[in-house]
Amino acid sequence: MAEPLRICITGGAGQIAYSLLYSICKGDVFGSNQPLTLLLLDIQPMMAVFGRCSDGTAGLCLFLCYKVDIVSTADPKIAFKNIDVAILVGAMPRKEGMERKDLLKANAKIFVEQGKALNEVAKKTVKVLVVGNPANTNCMVAQLNAPSIPATNFTCLTRLDMNRAKAQIASRLGTRVEQVKNVIIWGNHSSTQYPDVNHGVVDLGNGPVSIREAVKDDNWLNGDFVKTVQKRGAAIIAARKLSSAMSAAKAICDHMRDWWFGTPEGEIVSMGVVSDGSYGLPQGIVYSYPLTIGPNHKWEIKQDLDH
Ligand code: NAI
Repeated sequence: MAEPLRICITGGAGQIAYSLLYSICKGDVFGSNQPLTLLLLDIQPMMAVFGRCSDGTAGLCLFLCYKVDIVSTADPKIAFKNIDVAILVGAMPRKEGMERKDLLKANAKIFVEQGKALNEVAKKTVKVLVVGNPANTNCMVAQLNAPSIPATNFTCLTRLDMNRAKAQIASRLGTRVEQVKNVIIWGNHSSTQYPDVNHGVVDLGNGPVSIREAVKDDNWLNGDFVKTVQKRGAAIIAARKLSSAMSAAKAICDHMRDWWFGTPEGEIVSMGVVSDGSYGLPQGIVYSYPLTIGPNHKWEIKQDLDH
């Protein structure tokens, strides 16, 4: 029997985690035969919520997955002990009228503390996905505070933006999202990102064609399409008074599954990673690039795309 993977989810009592636990327990990310130990971290006042949630989750796991053990704690050093994967969701969420940068002060100190705790007690091979906003900056803060872990093990979530961009194209063409491939998100998970369809393809039944060729409307692709993707997070908050949860959980699963098992042949995905200077960007910042991912969780930035 495989050894259990130790997976920590922070913000474990929050709304994204509530949607995420189901898919992880069901095996959507690490496979349904993979035993898991889930370590749920939240702040002390949320421990009462955990009592109820983890009972529910444990019950669910009996039905869904080979074997899942659950530990809930308010201590990062317990939550991060010997972990294989850290999904850092816990942070103050954005409210209506706030940009992600408004969260910086409140959230940076969480990621300093968590970076240090990862450095001290996590496996050196731990794969870290930062979701809490501002995600790129928080990822960089955590990474800089964990110098004993390779910088390539830190990523942040821009898959939600990529999924949103693909959904816009699919909806415009009346096809399924799965038929749209290789849309790129460059930059930050924020309204400054650039959703790029210039290398993307769509299959409308006769094999892949370029998205520009299929859509036949450059004004829309260069205008409303870009703005809609950039502002989608704010539109969700305006409508729900809460930020995206189920779509964020789905994007986390997509990101982690591709990182764990690799990308399909010929496909690129976008993730925020620590820049090595590719495409003329400063080294060390966390920037969303197009990646291919091979076996053993090794990603590479796709080079030489017109940009
Ligand atoms: P939520 O408020 O429902 O849950 C956040 C949880 O984090 C709460 O249970 C809170 O107690 C916990 N928390 C706060 N400080 C903590 C700490 N120091 N350690 C551990 N847990 C802590 O928020 P929600 O909706 O789950 O969102 C979480 C974060 O994800 C927010 O920052 C939000 O802006 C961000 N987000 C990022 C997306 C992305 O694509 N990168 C998409 C959607 C949301």
